[in-house]
Amino acid sequence: GAPVEVDISKLQPGEKVIVEWRGKPVWVLRRTPEMLATLKNTDSEVADPKSERKAYPTPAYAQNEWRSRKEEFLVVVGICTHLGCSPVDKFQTGPQPSLPDNWEGGFFCPCHGSTFDLAGRVFKNKPAPDNLEVPPYKFLSETKILVG
Ligand code: FES
Repeated sequence: GAPVEVDISKLQPGEKVIVEWRGKPVWVLRRTPEMLATLKNTDSEVADPKSERKAYPTPAYAQNEWRSRKEEFLVVVGICTHLGCSPVDKFQTGPQPSLPDNWEGGFFCPCHGSTFDLAGRVFKNKPAPDNLEVPPYKFLSETKILVG
């Protein structure tokens, strides 16, 4: 499939846009400073904090705790790494049974309960084997991302 351009000029902090790339939904989430701050708290709760596992390779530019080229913008494939369901957004939630105690939002897969933080990092002991996939992408400018 052809690379896809994403215009992020109108994306407000805390908003997510979905584009289709190779038949897959790619999420671009503009994280607020508060959202980024939650990653410090989830660092020790996620299975592969710096995306160093080889089984699901992560591009070198996303092998960091925020999993992206620029901290503010998360770019991931919105498909659960377990059996391919679509995780839903949980940007603001109170405590919920069956979710991690320190859950401060992220993505929740309704199929078998995997939870991901706001960097798409899977929490430990969840059926999903790995973090959400980071697709190849680059910034064409301050307001445009090329996925693919
Ligand atoms: Fe997401 Fe199973 S498909 S937890």
